[in-house]
Amino acid sequence: MPGQSCKIRIETGRTILGAASMIEQLGGPLYLLYDNAVKPLAGSLSARLEIKAAKGVEGGEGVKTLASAEEIAGFLLDAGAGREATLIVMGGGAVCDAGAFTASIYKRGIKFVLIPTTLLAQVDAAIGGKTAVNSRGIKNPLGTFALPEFTYICPEPLATLPSEQWRSGAAELLKTLLLRGSGYEEAVELLAAELARAGAAPEHEHLHELIIRAAHIKAEIVSEDFLDTGARRLLNLGHTFGHAIEALALEKGAPILHGEAVAIGMLLSARIAGGPFAGQLKADLQRLGLPTECPFTQEELLPLIRQDKKAECGKIRFILLHGPGRIEEVSIEPRLPLSHE
Ligand SMILES: NC(=O)c1ccc[n+]([C@@H]2O[C@H](COP(=O)([O-])OP(=O)(O)OC[C@H]3O[C@@H](n4cnc5c(N)ncnc54)[C@H](O)[C@@H]3O)[C@@H](O)[C@H]2O)c1
Repeated sequence: MPGQSCKIRIETGRTILGAASMIEQLGGPLYLLYDNAVKPLAGSLSARLEIKAAKGVEGGEGVKTLASAEEIAGFLLDAGAGREATLIVMGGGAVCDAGAFTASIYKRGIKFVLIPTTLLAQVDAAIGGKTAVNSRGIKNPLGTFALPEFTYICPEPLATLPSEQWRSGAAELLKTLLLRGSGYEEAVELLAAELARAGAAPEHEHLHELIIRAAHIKAEIVSEDFLDTGARRLLNLGHTFGHAIEALALEKGAPILHGEAVAIGMLLSARIAGGPFAGQLKADLQRLGLPTECPFTQEELLPLIRQDKKAECGKIRFILLHGPGRIEEVSIEPRLPLSHE
């Protein structure tokens, strides 16, 4: 099945209630799993739809365990959900991952809809059909490939998003726009304005449009390579170093946000590529309050990078960033100094 292609459906609207009629059209009994952080929005959707049963869970990494997947499955069983059921999953990336994982294994797979409520989940976690839970301190070793009926993106939930979550998602939004080029500069301007407004709902229709554009770019890339054997690697821009930085920070007891690690990773990709873009990117990331200095030495990071699942025959695939829309995939040997061969 290498490189299998797929069709990804993304729907958009202004408010959560905009998803209601699309969900109704799916037919069959509806069940709702929501992130407690967006309980009022879950309540308004429940009031509009005929929901058989609803369950709230605490968002964040704690929900991504086999134990909580079993708890969610238990909720479905207790509520009598059969194979014709649809599970609506509303929340941040963690709840989307855990809810989608459970739906994909419950009775060998039931339909599900994702309503991402963080910026990161809207541009990344809820797009692409990867579901997962964590195990033994490792991120995402247990998971499935399973696509939702559709992902519904609207600006309403972002109104309550704390600024650190805005920043984390901002790094992924910029990463995806950088892959294709257009929209990057506008996104920096609009995100800077949103962050200055300290977590209010996106004021600019245009930012919502850029979020949707990024979701479609990810969907487009994933569609060509659903099972992650080729083109999907582009999405790893900034992640080779990013994952290593995130893991090391966690190990040292000073965890950093995924988006912060990706920001540093993207800048390293631009620096290794050489050229003037690294300077601009550094200034842009700083404007958004994202870190630009790597807190670790290359000696500390390289062992983790070598262990990375993407290392093949001693070489790793690495995405160089020359500028917006100018990326290059290279195969390099991770050694000091990390160089572009
Ligand atoms: N499946 C994939 O392809 C994929 C891709 C990228 C990331 N992910 C996963 O996504 C997860 C990270 O997602 P995230 O950044 O959304 O973090 P998260 O889901 O941990 O959410 C962060 C916090 O924000 C809260 N929250 C959610 N919506 C909110 C809202 N509207 N207002 C206020 N608070 C809200 C959550 O309860 C949580 O406390 C990670 O587990 C990561 O592995 C998956």
